[in-house]
Amino acid sequence: MSVRIGINGFGRIGRSLLRIAAEHPSAITVAAINDIAPVDRLAYGLKRDSLRGRFAGSVSVAPGRLIVGDQPVWTWHEAQPARIPWADAGVDVVIEATGKFRDGDLARTHITHGGARKVVISASADRPDAVLVWGANHETYDPDRHDVVSPASCGVNALSVLAKVLLDRFGLRSVHTTVVLAAQGWQKIHDSLTDTSRNDPRLGRAAQTSILPHDHVAGDLVSVVLPGLGPIRYSYYCVPTPVGSLAEVSGFTDRPVSAEEVNRAIAEAAAGPLRGVIDYDPDPTVSIDVLNNPASCLFDPSGTRTSADGGVQVRGWFDNEWGFSNRLLDLARLLGKREPVPAGAGRAPEVVPAAV
Ligand SMILES: NC(=O)c1ccc[n+]([C@@H]2O[C@H](COP(=O)([O-])OP(=O)(O)OC[C@H]3O[C@@H](n4cnc5c(N)ncnc54)[C@H](OP(=O)(O)O)[C@@H]3O)[C@@H](O)[C@H]2O)c1
Repeated sequence: MSVRIGINGFGRIGRSLLRIAAEHPSAITVAAINDIAPVDRLAYGLKRDSLRGRFAGSVSVAPGRLIVGDQPVWTWHEAQPARIPWADAGVDVVIEATGKFRDGDLARTHITHGGARKVVISASADRPDAVLVWGANHETYDPDRHDVVSPASCGVNALSVLAKVLLDRFGLRSVHTTVVLAAQGWQKIHDSLTDTSRNDPRLGRAAQTSILPHDHVAGDLVSVVLPGLGPIRYSYYCVPTPVGSLAEVSGFTDRPVSAEEVNRAIAEAAAGPLRGVIDYDPDPTVSIDVLNNPASCLFDPSGTRTSADGGVQVRGWFDNEWGFSNRLLDLARLLGKREPVPAGAGRAPEVVPAAV
């Protein structure tokens, strides 16, 4: 049965969610959208996209509704989450995608005030009930305890699934992770000194002229998702590409392994339990090649390095909007289920592969 979702924040992630859901109507229904922009702007933003092109279906507006194909979507324009009446539209799961309400208690108002049943925050969050990364630890979801969940970030999703394969197959310790992230909407075209929402003044520097180091806690979150890895060192850089990002995991395995062994292990995972979550592409890849790829991580076997002391390094690419939005919808489907989740349910091969 289709899960009814509500989207708070119709930006890069929000619009990706609707585009993906429109391709899978039997799995996901976007019942409602809240964004501070007026409905004609929401329609415009859906129809035309600088990266993904025109929306395939028809889009029009009616009072209080965005009409997508023949499907009316309730729309509101509330700045405060507590004022959004999700229950009126029969919303099961809200995907909190404004970037403004990443605190678990704030996001919970979608349930306590709006009447939704569950919330997925589209980012790393403060005090969620659980951090669930699809393919890495989503099977720890407990419907009785987890109402507000965070899948961490797009980078953490890509890193976690690579690290999980290495950890499960070879043991992995002394881990270092690197993310090179495409430009984000909050970055500035020219140097800006006024945005103090991020501590590091370098993050206010012009996005298109520099590689910006970012003290993002991605590594910490990977070790929350996969506690067996222990503490993780990490590097994180924002770069001037419009979309398409890079994740690298390095560390030491329990025994020396060859690059071929590592690549075979990841290929098996991509064809088996992590189908749709890891994609495997032997062709020489650059970041734009990952555009519209629905996986959390497009594994690049040419990036694998190993050494005689057990050192290992692997590389993957990810569409930071599209892959992550697919995982948000995977989580929404899991959380939106009304029946108890039996042991082992929700494994990657049992959902629509590489889609929702
Ligand atoms: N983009 C990515 O690659 C990516 C990947 C993973 C996770 N995320 C995370 O996902 C979240 C959203 O990112 P995004 O890139 O989609 O950002 P975005 O494009 O700026 O989208 C946010 C949307 O929410 C709207 N909004 C702002 N305040 C609001 C409010 N109070 N109520 C309702 N709507 C409001 C914004 O309107 P205005 O534009 O008018 O402010 C915008 O339309 C962030 O936490 C981000 O870190 C993003």
